[in-house]
Amino acid sequence: MDANGSNSRWWHGGTLYQVYVRSWRDTNGDGYGDLAGVTANIDYLSWLGVDGIWLSPTMPSPDDDWGYDVSDYFGVHPELGTLDDLDRLIAEAAKRDMKVLLDLVPNHSSTAHPWFVDAISGPDSAHRSYYVWADPAPGGGPPNNWLDTTGHSAWAFDEASGQYYLHNFLASQADLNWWEPAVHEAFREILRFWFDRGVAGFRIDVAHGLYKDTELRDDPPSAVTDRLHSRFGLEPVYSANRPESHSVFRDWREIAESYSPARLLLGETWVGDLGRMAAFHGQGDELQLTFNFPFIFADFTAPALSRIVAETLAALPTGECPVWTASNHDISRFPSRWGGGDERKARLALLMLAMLPGTFVLYYGDEIAMTDVDVPPDLRRDQMTSSGLGSGGRDRARTPMQWDASPSAGFTAEGVIPWLPYGDNAARSVAAQRGDPASVLRLCRDLIALRRAEFGRAESGRAESGRAGSGRAGSGGAERGGRIAQYRELPGPPGLWAYRVDGLLVAGNFTGEPITLDATAGPVVASSAGDGVLDRGVLAPWAGVVTRPGPSGPR
Ligand code: NOJ
Ligand code: CA
Repeated sequence: MDANGSNSRWWHGGTLYQVYVRSWRDTNGDGYGDLAGVTANIDYLSWLGVDGIWLSPTMPSPDDDWGYDVSDYFGVHPELGTLDDLDRLIAEAAKRDMKVLLDLVPNHSSTAHPWFVDAISGPDSAHRSYYVWADPAPGGGPPNNWLDTTGHSAWAFDEASGQYYLHNFLASQADLNWWEPAVHEAFREILRFWFDRGVAGFRIDVAHGLYKDTELRDDPPSAVTDRLHSRFGLEPVYSANRPESHSVFRDWREIAESYSPARLLLGETWVGDLGRMAAFHGQGDELQLTFNFPFIFADFTAPALSRIVAETLAALPTGECPVWTASNHDISRFPSRWGGGDERKARLALLMLAMLPGTFVLYYGDEIAMTDVDVPPDLRRDQMTSSGLGSGGRDRARTPMQWDASPSAGFTAEGVIPWLPYGDNAARSVAAQRGDPASVLRLCRDLIALRRAEFGRAESGRAESGRAGSGRAGSGGAERGGRIAQYRELPGPPGLWAYRVDGLLVAGNFTGEPITLDATAGPVVASSAGDGVLDRGVLAPWAGVVTRPGPSGPR
């Protein structure tokens, strides 16, 4: 239970927006987005109506993994700005009633971190035990069969000491040893440092990692071979996913709850099993939010998505809040992955996700249906996927935000070469869509406003936010006491996903043919492509609609 009362659970019914800082807006002409760029365009996020901004890694880093290799947990990467810039961003966000979350990387640090530099200086060094060291296997070679994310051994040999250190990701990302109490103490200090500065919470990288098996047993072969259950054919049951990690989150939750409002812990829970995902909520005393990867990787069909929603809601402990997202910086963007570039499907996806109970998370560009960009090999910047492993590379989903149709996409100054190439900003941009009521962007904004009004925070909580003319939908907006909206799936013909969510009815046609809805649905509150999508009870192909049934409507 939230010690600060239900009002502080601002993410219930809310919307978060992931800013991949390097790709959002460059203010100093070096081709990389920066914190000042987030502040410069913050009114856009306020206009869009989001409640919180999750910033991809902001801490100093050699950038072998673009910030996920942290070399100082208390600083700001000089390329992105300064601590002052971050403070300013938090303050400007607060003025607009938006919160700022940082990305915290507790599973590993950069090998450039002073802890590791000391650790590798010798077995007796003060920080040796901060990392996972092991002797070679009896016949020589790595201590066990664990693999890193590139498919190679997860162990790197240190000639000087004759021992190996563990890296579940790149060799320059050394796994921290969570059996070491000093590591716990160090992270408590890191949490407090940022919470004290007004950071509203963290997205926790590799939340399923942290503790490793004490006996370093071999990972067994994986029965299921998709990327959620298997790492190159092995099931990571000893190299990750240890039960002891739950104690870390209980500890952090106590710290989070000691602030007002309570700070938010949102886990990157990369697991294939919804029961295991739900377990990260503990008894309501661990992570408040968990990313739902089985949903992200589901097929874009009515039965696949609705089944995972039902299973998720059944798996979560009572009162816990589900998270719905479709894209992030590690995977293909959903307008490509689910939509194949067909904008009708992207609109349908946005409508179906935005109307689900809980927290809705957008990745930058989702709101204009940005698609993957085919980045030529010589322009790729992601080491982890550059070898061809890792299903298509991650750079495709990290290209600059498409603000306008100009040669620099409104991302940087004219003539500056961006760190990754632009997508088709002539065809798809914020500037082109913002003034067009029929655009994806306007649909997305209307949906965010609708979810706020129906199952989000009280409208009055935003009165002083200076969002003149934001055109939020409806006047519902009553404080829901932090409760989660009620969801119930409705029966329908094949290809239709229909559900009740509080007082609304949501129906999505996941086929290329019109579907006749078998019940009167009430007035249309939102639709994925204008009023024409529902004509005399017939729902257009690849279209979604939200209606408000009267008391006699489908229940
Ligand atoms: C998950 C992050 O999202 C990804 O970008 C990163 O490479 C790994 N964790 C390692 O930190
Ligand atoms: Ca810059």
